[in-house]
Amino acid sequence: MLNNVKLTEGVYFVGAVDWNLRDFHGYHTPRGVTYNSYLIVDEKICLVDTVKAPFAEEMLERISQIVDPAKIDYVITNHAEPDHAGALPKLMEKAVNAKVVLTASGKDGVMKQQQRSYDFMVVKEGDTINLGRNNLHFVPLPMLHWPDSMACYLDGEQILFSNDAFGQHVCTTKRFDDENDLNEVMYEAGKYYANILMPYSRLIGKALDKTGQLPVTMIAPSHGVIWRSHIAEIMQKYEQWGRGDAGDTVIIVYDSMWGATEQMARRILDGVAASGVKGKLHRLGAASLSDIITDVLEAGGLMVGSSTQHNGVLATTGGFLTYLKGLRPTNKLGAAFSTYGWSGGAQNTIEEFLKSSGLTVEQSGLSVKWAGSKEELDKCFEFGLEFGKKVKMRKK
Ligand code: FEO
Repeated sequence: MLNNVKLTEGVYFVGAVDWNLRDFHGYHTPRGVTYNSYLIVDEKICLVDTVKAPFAEEMLERISQIVDPAKIDYVITNHAEPDHAGALPKLMEKAVNAKVVLTASGKDGVMKQQQRSYDFMVVKEGDTINLGRNNLHFVPLPMLHWPDSMACYLDGEQILFSNDAFGQHVCTTKRFDDENDLNEVMYEAGKYYANILMPYSRLIGKALDKTGQLPVTMIAPSHGVIWRSHIAEIMQKYEQWGRGDAGDTVIIVYDSMWGATEQMARRILDGVAASGVKGKLHRLGAASLSDIITDVLEAGGLMVGSSTQHNGVLATTGGFLTYLKGLRPTNKLGAAFSTYGWSGGAQNTIEEFLKSSGLTVEQSGLSVKWAGSKEELDKCFEFGLEFGKKVKMRKK
């Protein structure tokens, strides 16, 4: 017997909790991952999303405790990524009468990834299925997180099944926001946004316009806890992140070959602190890229430092800069610092990456040969102080 959680009359959580996953396609998940699948039992039976393939049997057992899977009429595939559609092949062996409901792009993704076809029903913006007491409305949310992504809305119960949007990678035996530590859930929601959705921030406003006008008593994402008591807070956070609102924190990220770049970083941090803004230091390797990017999400400035190696940056710094470029944070100031032995190159490489990642680089970078003298370390302090003041000014 497995525990099926009831969201409301006729709506159940039938997903899986992956307590031990620590790497979700490169995103560090110290609190594990959940794959939320929801069963709607109305005059018609409908499953919203499945789970990752290894958890198919667990999902089927949860469903079977409520209804024979052969009675499922519709399987909504809000998103073709394998964490939600991976169990579709196993499910469809049992749900032999079900239509698979998805966007045109979702159909393309499922057919190509799974190399099989189902009884598809392609839906678009504004389409609705009548389930009996409730109608299910389809709300495509392209690029949140893939082109095929959509949400669906159960009108009678006023539940928004939002798929990746509003998700968090957190494992718990309690399925609702108000049964968990809200600070922990909000941190994980921010981390999820920063690492998965940040490149598509310009689309968030439009998505909120579409979903915000619906009367919603629950937001049921496909990862993490279900929002029922803190809907306004998470909506407000998405508005803020979508706009790219910057705070006045400065994040300093660096790596150091023999300690000289680290010495610069620490002295720059002192300067930042002296400006009155909050600073935070991350040596690459000590924190995961996904945690560092979570700090960048609400920061006002990002300073990146590296020793020079082969006329460029250290491989760790290069990895961070590549990750940053993909995520394209908005509305941040950037600056570079480096050490070198002869011809240099790290500062330029960092500045180019920061600019192509969308950061505003208006302060010339700072480079030191071999290791900083007292005067050069004083310059590092001044460099941090000036940067901190600029971040503070922008916040006003
Ligand atoms: Fe949770 Fe984009 O899949």
